[in-house]
Amino acid sequence: MAKKNELCSCFKITKKDVKDHIKAGITSYKELQKQTDIGTKCSSCKKKTKKKFKKYRNKLGAN
Ligand code: FES
Repeated sequence: MAKKNELCSCFKITKKDVKDHIKAGITSYKELQKQTDIGTKCSSCKKKTKKKFKKYRNKLGAN
């Protein structure tokens, strides 16, 4: 079962993981995929995680 904070259960990526990557300077979902493989297995989380990524980036990201 997916944990509450897990965004991508295939790779066990949590909200915090995504936020930490943004804080570390990631600016695009593609970059996030390169580093974490998020959304690249079953891809069922892709739509959701893309949205979340954008939301967090607007909040936490540079510029
Ligand atoms: S849940 Fe993210 S790739 Fe499967």
